[in-house]
Amino acid sequence: LEQMIFVNPNEPPVVHYWIPFIGSLIELGIHPLEFMRKNREKYGDYYTFLMFGRRMSVCLGVEGNSLVFNAKQSYANAEDAYVHLTKPVFGEGVIYDVPNSILMEQKKMAKSGLSTENLKLYIPIIIDEVNLYLDENWTKDSDVVDIFKAVSEMIIMTASHCLIGPEIRAQLHTGVADLYHTLDASFTPIHFLFEWLPLPSYYSCEAAHKELFKIFSKIIETRKKDVDNKHEDMLDQFINYKFKNGDKLSDQKVANMSIAILMAGQHTSSATSAWTLLNLANNHKLLEETYKDMQDAMGKDLPYPQFDDLKKIPILECLVKETLRLRNPIIQILRKVTQPIAIPGTNYVIQKGSYLLSSPTVTQTDSKYFPDPEKYDPHRWDDFVSVETTNTDNDTPSKDNKASVVDEGDVDYGFGNINSKSAKSPYLPFGAGRHRCIGEQFAFVQIRTILYTMLKRFDFELDPKRGMPQPDYTSMVILPTAPASIKYIRRKN
Ligand code: HEM
Repeated sequence: LEQMIFVNPNEPPVVHYWIPFIGSLIELGIHPLEFMRKNREKYGDYYTFLMFGRRMSVCLGVEGNSLVFNAKQSYANAEDAYVHLTKPVFGEGVIYDVPNSILMEQKKMAKSGLSTENLKLYIPIIIDEVNLYLDENWTKDSDVVDIFKAVSEMIIMTASHCLIGPEIRAQLHTGVADLYHTLDASFTPIHFLFEWLPLPSYYSCEAAHKELFKIFSKIIETRKKDVDNKHEDMLDQFINYKFKNGDKLSDQKVANMSIAILMAGQHTSSATSAWTLLNLANNHKLLEETYKDMQDAMGKDLPYPQFDDLKKIPILECLVKETLRLRNPIIQILRKVTQPIAIPGTNYVIQKGSYLLSSPTVTQTDSKYFPDPEKYDPHRWDDFVSVETTNTDNDTPSKDNKASVVDEGDVDYGFGNINSKSAKSPYLPFGAGRHRCIGEQFAFVQIRTILYTMLKRFDFELDPKRGMPQPDYTSMVILPTAPASIKYIRRKN
């Protein structure tokens, strides 16, 4: 019926479905990557499927990725696709609840809290937090634990402490962590699908947000009074940021931005850390090699690294890069179409009201670009590890792309990049264009430091009863299916 209502002869081919309205939801929900790959073989890089009354136009391959990441703001935008999902969690007036130009300014504000100077200061904090967690929780010589749960705790502690400061970190034991979890709980595909349903989790989310704001506002107030004591973190950047007209962010927006930043990195970095450790436990030779590389670079006793030391251990970067290739936490990038988009090089037109969906994971696991793509092999990155992580942005579309629906030429959003020259790279775990991730360098520093600290103290094996967990596609971020059991074995030094 829907297909009859929206007759659009130029629409990309529509995937066949059996149940009206529900469309391809079930097939997509079970294994989204297989769904996308299978239909790519049948229809090519562009096709549409229906899902709960929505028209989702899939754009795959390097051209498809580029079309979605570089879509001009006047043709397709992220805020209409995501705001109903993020507003209850992040609060009002930030990220997708503002016009795009304001989001760009908010991202620049946040980025200034992620300068190389700040990253250098964050490393000892991360090491201390990880050690504290391990001392308090991994007390036996050997045990089986849920590694996703463990690293999630470490990420919440380290990110809160580094980015938002010691005051909020000190309160994590007194309920702040639970409030974060409540916010997290409404970040699910169900909430994307049922945007019109007043789900109970929205109300608990709103309540948790109010509660968190009370805690944040006391901290902000104290910091504002204590002008002589400068903090090198993102919270200070938000408090002190001045717009061109001299205005500053309200306390509510400072709190909302802080919450948004923590949430953006929480599951993505936890999933990446957990998958990396699981892959090491699954391949003990690789784990031993990593440990040896750490010792070769740092010395037998493995003193804790500083910022420049991490560069001497390229295997850690290769491991994280390979995890992000094969187990990219975000497999679906969405934009909502606000005026018809003619897909360059085809006769297809995507109609207003549809969603664009791209999945860099499809190119990241395409044998055309990555031989033996299902194999976890960090050494495929040996020649590509960054010598220097700079803050220059290379994610501009190539100049020969003359399509009018995408941003052309030297668009510099200034959100930093490592090694990927454009939105046409087959490897885009941090996205591209105006919505590109600002947290890449922080995530790399944080995850490598966590890995180093854990590997220094513990050896790992898979839980023989469970083996390697499969990806869980039912959450917004692709996590290992719970419980992601791993066996830790304390090293005797
Ligand atoms: C955007 C991935 C960590 C903050 C994005 C996007 C991706 C991504 C794919 C683009 C989304 C889109 O185009 O719709 C990741 C991965 C991470 C990670 C894989 C870790 C391994 C972080 C961290 C932070 C962060 C640690 C903060 C410190 C952001 C922000 C945006 C973003 C603010 C911009 C959203 C926008 O402009 O629409 N991230 N991220 N991310 N990320 Fe990350």
